[in-house]
Amino acid sequence: MFFAGSPFKTKMFNFKDACGIMKKIKYEVIFMKRLVAYFSASGVTSKTAEQLAELAGADVFEIKPKIPYTKADLDWRNDKSRSSVEMKDPSSRPEIAEKKDNMGDYDVIFVGFPIWWYVAPTIINTFLESYDFTGKKIIPFATSGGSGMGKTNEKLAPSCKGAELLDGEMLNHFDKAKTEKWLKKLNLG
Ligand SMILES: Cc1cc2nc3c(=O)[nH]c(=O)nc-3n(C[C@H](O)[C@H](O)[C@H](O)COP(=O)(O)O)c2cc1C
Repeated sequence: MFFAGSPFKTKMFNFKDACGIMKKIKYEVIFMKRLVAYFSASGVTSKTAEQLAELAGADVFEIKPKIPYTKADLDWRNDKSRSSVEMKDPSSRPEIAEKKDNMGDYDVIFVGFPIWWYVAPTIINTFLESYDFTGKKIIPFATSGGSGMGKTNEKLAPSCKGAELLDGEMLNHFDKAKTEKWLKKLNLG
């Protein structure tokens, strides 16, 4: 069990004593403080982010664009729509409405987004470049209409200077068991 705000997590260890009687030891390990930061234009990644945060014992921060995306902005069929224009320009950095003032408290930052044109929306680069993540773990996750992570990390890496950028995970159709397995693999289970 863990408690929000506490740096410790309580774990139980079962063992047999010299007489073969099962005993339990309760011990505490340092809990790496986790944050799930996400951008979601139409609500899918937002739900996934909440579910992941619950499993990972993480706080949640929504990366809100200063100028919200309208339906027309998200029209990928229109090469002049805001999203098309931004995604064609690798230097675009859409502004974020609010900064999180206690970002320094977190050791592990899950960063969630919808896949746009096979990679992360450039607002994720804005987010990563807005803080000093030196020494922290950045773990991407995404939802999509079917594409995988593709070259997402290649585009995010230059924005994660000094941080450890881990392979991302697609979390389409949220699967609790699969997500728990992934967290265990990351030593965050
Ligand atoms: C501008 C734009 C580009 C997209 N590009 C892709 C894509 O390359 N591959 C894909 O599978 N889905 C693509 N999608 C679909 C979204 O990734 C998918 O609907 C996602 O789950 C939406 O998440 P959200 O509701 O959190 O914004 C795109 C959607 C938009 C709006």
